Amino acid sequence: MTQHSADWWRDAVIYQVYPRSFADANGDGMGDLEGVRSRLPYLRELGVDAVWLSPFYASPQADAGYDVADYRAVDPMFGTVEHADALIRDAHELGLRVIVDVVPNHSSDRHEWFERAIKEGPGSALRDRYHFRTGRGESGELPPNDWESIFGGPAWTRTDNPDGSPGDWYLHLFAPEQPDFNWEHPAVADEFRSILRFWLDQGVDGFRVDVAHGLVKAAGLPDIGGSDQLKLLGNASMPFFDQDGVHLIYRSWRAILDEYPDDRIAVAEAWAPTPERLALYVRPDELHQAFNFPYLGTYWDAEALREVIDSSLAAMRPVGAPATWVLSNHDVTRHATRFANPAGLGTQLRTPGDRGLGLRRAHAATLLMLALPGSAYVYQGEELGLPDVTDLPDEARQDPSFFRAAGQDGFRDGCRVPIPWTRDGSSYGFGSGGSWLPQPPEWAGLSVEAQTGDPGSTLELYRGALALRREHPGLGAGESVEWRDAPEGVLHFVRGDGFVCTANTTGQPVTIPTPGRAILSSATVHYNEQGAELPADTTVWWQA
Ligand code: BGC
Repeated sequence: MTQHSADWWRDAVIYQVYPRSFADANGDGMGDLEGVRSRLPYLRELGVDAVWLSPFYASPQADAGYDVADYRAVDPMFGTVEHADALIRDAHELGLRVIVDVVPNHSSDRHEWFERAIKEGPGSALRDRYHFRTGRGESGELPPNDWESIFGGPAWTRTDNPDGSPGDWYLHLFAPEQPDFNWEHPAVADEFRSILRFWLDQGVDGFRVDVAHGLVKAAGLPDIGGSDQLKLLGNASMPFFDQDGVHLIYRSWRAILDEYPDDRIAVAEAWAPTPERLALYVRPDELHQAFNFPYLGTYWDAEALREVIDSSLAAMRPVGAPATWVLSNHDVTRHATRFANPAGLGTQLRTPGDRGLGLRRAHAATLLMLALPGSAYVYQGEELGLPDVTDLPDEARQDPSFFRAAGQDGFRDGCRVPIPWTRDGSSYGFGSGGSWLPQPPEWAGLSVEAQTGDPGSTLELYRGALALRREHPGLGAGESVEWRDAPEGVLHFVRGDGFVCTANTTGQPVTIPTPGRAILSSATVHYNEQGAELPADTTVWWQA
C-alpha cells in the first residue's frame, strides 16, 4: 500500500523515532531497528504519515549516534543494514514513509578518515578533510580561535603528534569526539553525495539534515570576539553558522533527490538569525522543509503564538515551502514539562513543574499545532503525554553536555527515557532486558496499553486528531490562517472547508459565540446562552 501522492510532505505528520528508546527487540536494554519494525503497525494506527529515525549508524555513541564512524553501516547495537532494509520495506507496505538522519557537519573521531589523519600526523592529506590548525601562543598552546563548543568548553582540541609531542588542534563545534568536516574539500562533498545515494537506493524517502546550517565556516575562521557565545546562537550571525556557502551544497543534494522517483525529501535542522534567512534553505531548488525552532521555543501564550505563526507563514510563502511545526524533539525538554513550568525558562529544564497544568496545555498545544497549515513533527512519547524525567540519577546520564558542564547539565537525557508500552514488565514493554535510562514507576499508567481505549487519554486525543486531519485534507493544506476576533489570550482562526480552531491559552474559562459543531476538544466544552465556554488552557476544533 505504498503511497505515491506527489508532494506528500507538504502537509505530512512526521513521527520522530529515537531508536535507542523506542522498542528493544533483543533484550539488551537499548532500542533497536527490529524493535521499531515490530511497532510500525502502532504508528500506522496512530495515523502519522512518515517516520523519521534518529541515527542508527555505526558509532561509538559519544553523542548518542550523532557521532558517526561509518555512514553506510548500522551499529550492531541497533541491528544490521538488512534490518534497516526490512524496516523500510514494512513501513512502505503500511503506507508509512521513512526519513533517516544524515550527519554531515562532523564525523566521529573514530571515522576512518579522522583516525588516519591523527595517525599519519601533520602533513597527512586526510587532515585537509577536517579543520586542523596550529595553535596560538608561543608554542601553540592556545586554541587557534575563540570559538566555543555548543556542549561547553573550547571548540578545539589539541592533538598529540605520532612522536608524542603536542601537535595541531582540530575543530569540533560539538564534543571533541565529533570533529567538523572541511566542506571546502571536494572529497567531503563527494562522499556525502555518495552516502545520500546509498540510503536512497535502500529506499528511504528522505533525510533530516543534522546541523544543516553549520557545514561551511567563514574563510579564515575569524574570532567572534564576544563572550557568552552560546547565548548568541540562533539569533546572531556566527562565522560557523548559516554561511551562504551552505546553499550550494543543498542545491547539489536537491538534484540527487530529484533523480529518484516518488518525491524524496530533505528537512533542515537549521538555525538562522531570522525567518527570512531560514527560508533560504527551502527555496525550490534546495531542501524541502526546515524545522521551525522559533515555534518550538514559544511559550503557551496567545500573543506570542500568533506572532510566530504569522512570521513563519510569511517567511515560507515567497519560497513556496510549507511551514513546519514542532513542539518536542530529542534535544529539548518535552512540551508537557515546559508548559508545566513558568514562562521565560526556555527549552532546557530540569524542573517538573505542575504536571496537571503541563499536560492540559500540552493537549491544547497539540490540537493547535495540528490545525495549522503545513507539516507537523511529533516526537515519540508525546502522544502518551510523557513528561521529561527530571530526576535521573547522575550515574545514568549520557548526554555529552552533562560531562562538558558550562551550564549545560545533561538535561537532554530527560526526554530520551524509553517508551512505556505496557502496564507491567521490567521496562513496561520496552524490552525484556530493562532500559538504558530508568523509567519512573508512574509510567505504567502512561503506557500505550493503559491509554488505549480511554477516551480521556492523551493517546486517544492524538489518534482522534490525526484521523480528523486525514479526513480534512484542507487542514494541513494552504499557506495561511484567517484570524478572527477573540478575547485576549484566545486564538481563533478559520481554515478551509468550514474548519475553525479556537485555543484558550489563559488560566480562566472563556465564553465565545459558538462557531459550529465541536468535532474535537482537548477538554470538555460547556454551552450556555452566551455560547460555548472553553475551560482554561483548552483548544477546540469546530465544523462551521
Ligand atoms: C542533534 C543533536 C546532536 C547535535 C550534534 C543536533 O542538532 O539533534 O542531538 O547532539 O546535532 O550532532
